[in-house]
Amino acid sequence: MRMIPHSRPTIDQGEIDAVDAVLRSGRLAQGERVLEFEKILASLTGAGGAVAVSSGTAGLHLSLLALGVGEGDEVVIPGFVCPALLNAILYVRALPVLADIDRETFNIDVRDLKRRRTEKTKAVIVPHMFGLPADIGEIVALGVPVIEDCAQALGSRYEGLPIGSFGVLSVFSFYATKVICTGEGGMVAANDRHLLEKIRDLRDYDEKDDHRLRYNYKLTDLQAALGLAQIRRLPVLIERRRAIARQYDAFLRERRLPAPACPPDREHIYYRYVIRTKQVAGLLAAGEEAGIAYRRPVFKPLQHYLGMTGYPRTEKAFIETVSLPIYPSLSDAEVEAILHSLRSVLK
Ligand SMILES: Cc1ncc(COP(=O)(O)O)c(C=O)c1O
Repeated sequence: MRMIPHSRPTIDQGEIDAVDAVLRSGRLAQGERVLEFEKILASLTGAGGAVAVSSGTAGLHLSLLALGVGEGDEVVIPGFVCPALLNAILYVRALPVLADIDRETFNIDVRDLKRRRTEKTKAVIVPHMFGLPADIGEIVALGVPVIEDCAQALGSRYEGLPIGSFGVLSVFSFYATKVICTGEGGMVAANDRHLLEKIRDLRDYDEKDDHRLRYNYKLTDLQAALGLAQIRRLPVLIERRRAIARQYDAFLRERRLPAPACPPDREHIYYRYVIRTKQVAGLLAAGEEAGIAYRRPVFKPLQHYLGMTGYPRTEKAFIETVSLPIYPSLSDAEVEAILHSLRSVLK
């Protein structure tokens, strides 16, 4: 069998045809398809509107600018996440403040977030890690402006409501291996029209009456055509993820090993299937031998880049977790091969 990658996009003929149609239309850049994609995403998350951007990182950057976050302001984020959040904070010359995570859900820990909050805290960015909603209700209740980072969790729900409907602003990513993809791409959703207008203004630099620092963070119609076709298949894509997760759950349950947590008030979409195990090295080696790409779910916690200490649960998660391949285009035979390789290590 060929190598089983850790992630792989799921592209069908309808998507190829949709991109082909834009190619033939002669209008490739930001246009009608982008507007349509914005409307669909806004309606899916129950937001008043959405603005498409070139990446999730661009979405985070413009969200911070729209909230007026700048030099000397503090922004709280968890450390168990990719550096995109850190970069966005540094783009606006604000100060990143790291919070520890919950050991079961791997999401930002609310109690630690409260401890790290100061009078300089201007915002908190809350990623819903690996497809599982964070404690977003409790966090919003703290009264600090919340940017929901939905890059890994499009389609998941908290207390029956779609994630992306809780923060002042919500950011999505459509990177090639995300829940739905456009190659690179992102979106910011919100109810506040004023914030959305600011973001719409900042993502494009041309044909403006005044000059100020603006960006080229536009999404193209080529990308949006792919995104539109993907978002229409979202329920099917998520159901396949959940079906694979059920097989992994059953495997772990048989061995009395912990399956990924999912509190009863949330719906997991299993963007990643992250297991806690002391046998990380053994699993990574077994994967290499079998041609299966197991990975650490976070390449490096942010405190390691920043030379900080004092995040025991993040450290433990970094050392004791492995992410298994899980994506809609994973075939039954590939899932079987993964279970076979897991059997050799997790007895
Ligand atoms: C939680 C989270 N936020 C933000 C991003 C950044 O998204 P993008 O790669 O589209 O800039 C990612 C991407 O990996 C992510 O996982």
